[in-house]
Amino acid sequence: MNIILLGPPGAGKGTQSDYLRDTYKLTKLATGDMLRAAVASGSEIGLKAKAVMAAGALVSDDIMIGIIRDAISDSNCPNGFILDGFPRTTAQAAALDGMLEEEGKKIDYVIELKVDDAALVARIAGRYSCKKCGAGYHDTFRKPAVADRCDACDSTEFTRREDDKAETVAKRLEQYHAMTAPLLPHYKAAGNLRTVDGMADIAEVTLAINGIVG
Ligand code: AP5
Ligand code: MG
Ligand code: ZN
Repeated sequence: MNIILLGPPGAGKGTQSDYLRDTYKLTKLATGDMLRAAVASGSEIGLKAKAVMAAGALVSDDIMIGIIRDAISDSNCPNGFILDGFPRTTAQAAALDGMLEEEGKKIDYVIELKVDDAALVARIAGRYSCKKCGAGYHDTFRKPAVADRCDACDSTEFTRREDDKAETVAKRLEQYHAMTAPLLPHYKAAGNLRTVDGMADIAEVTLAINGIVG
């Protein structure tokens, strides 16, 4: 099964793709996570992406398409994949269609997480993640079971994203509406678009997604 999760910054793509990865044994391909790893390692892609990400702009289509081309192979995704954060432009969507056709694969579901812009800011402002394993948390909406201890790996070290400052979030949101939301009609026409109310609680959103893919 191959799934695309589409939605604005803070919609819950990362939260729900972790669930899909664990439940359906899919490979999670989160381009933002890949880029942050590239920045941390100081690789050539990381050097190119660092300032662009910090400004809340989009990294070039060439770089992103190259990353995904390598990532969607059968050996990397034996049970299929979840794309979180890709495609984000019409050029990326067209390139993905081409790659899938070449490999004889298809996207089963494109799941849009629909959330009001006003709610996104509060979500992003409260977000943090485990420094060791990457598990995601929120000051209000998803606290670890034991305070200051990661549920998944017991680590006590957490981190917040550099691009989660209010001004940068506004720019990311603007980019979503200008560059990414126009993909929705493309997938609607392809017949695999499903829209989920992303304003609901995390567990309710998971249930809705399960109802689609389960
Ligand atoms: P990326 O990392 O993809 O960021 P994003 O799209 O802005 O999305 P986020 O990760 O901020 O939000 P999310 O939807 O994953 O929400 P989450 O689950 O964490 O991209 C970062 C940057 O990389 C881009 O700006 C760009 O520069 C670059 N980039 C990446 N891909 C690219 C591409 N293809 N092309 C070009 N450039 C690219 O949830 C947010 C918070 O809310 C969490 O704390 C969570 O606990 C909480 N939460 C989740 N769901 C709920 C709920 N239902 N109710 C209450 N709280 C909730
Ligand atoms: Mg994310
Ligand atoms: Zn952890």
